[in-house]
Amino acid sequence: MSTAVPALRVEIVADPDAVARRVADLIAAVVGQRPTAVLGLPTGSTPLPTYRELARRVADGALDLGGVRVVLCDEYVGLGPDDPRAYRATIRRDATRPLGIPDDHVLGPAGEAADLERAAGDFEAAIAALGGVDLQLVGIGRNGHVAFNEPGTPLDRRTHVATLSDATRADNARFFDAGGVPTRALTQGPATLAAARRLVLVATGDTKAPAVAAAVDGPVSSDCPAAIVQRHPDAWVVVDRHAGRLLGGAAGGDGRRTGAGTGGG
Ligand code: PGA
Repeated sequence: MSTAVPALRVEIVADPDAVARRVADLIAAVVGQRPTAVLGLPTGSTPLPTYRELARRVADGALDLGGVRVVLCDEYVGLGPDDPRAYRATIRRDATRPLGIPDDHVLGPAGEAADLERAAGDFEAAIAALGGVDLQLVGIGRNGHVAFNEPGTPLDRRTHVATLSDATRADNARFFDAGGVPTRALTQGPATLAAARRLVLVATGDTKAPAVAAAVDGPVSSDCPAAIVQRHPDAWVVVDRHAGRLLGGAAGGDGRRTGAGTGGG
């Protein structure tokens, strides 16, 4: 049993490019120590500048990610791995291929499986077989969701079938045609995400500010699954000044709360 004391470091930086550089530094540090590190990588808009920054470093020869393994957070139910809207296809396109990570180093939940409960268990077992995740990067939804764990998801849940909220489906509608966004996903649970040795939450833009404040300063409860960062022994929250504008208070203990702009405390 871990007796580690939670350590949440909050960094408020100027803009999305600064978030990208900071998170790329954190990832590069982990891979520098362990070239075969297991990285948990999310889809979504927020991490894209980070992936571009990492791709630049790889192209420059400053970073080699060829040995890392990538674990996805989630996958839509009903989409096969090569469907362009599937997260396994999205992460290859937006992240792993530009980063020089082989396709067979990418592991995601099998959203197309006939037996989803079994697929959830298989995914957990595959993560365990990799030795767990060294660094898990996550975004945050406007409602405080993390991966597809919507408010109300028990924080001790492992990988499970989630029903998407209307808000989340509306946010993701831009990627789907008339058929609409799938209604369910297979997602790492809050407890799966929190089992990573380092957890890094990123957010940019004004619309994320209330969710970021709830995750960092609010009660730790299933109302805000992203609040798992508060209980984690090695968690980082890296936000731009817009997403961090509602974060109050000065740094406490060894938890840095450094502001590079407005509202940093
Ligand atoms: P976004 O999604 O990065 O596209 O805003 C984040 C999330 O919903 O987890």
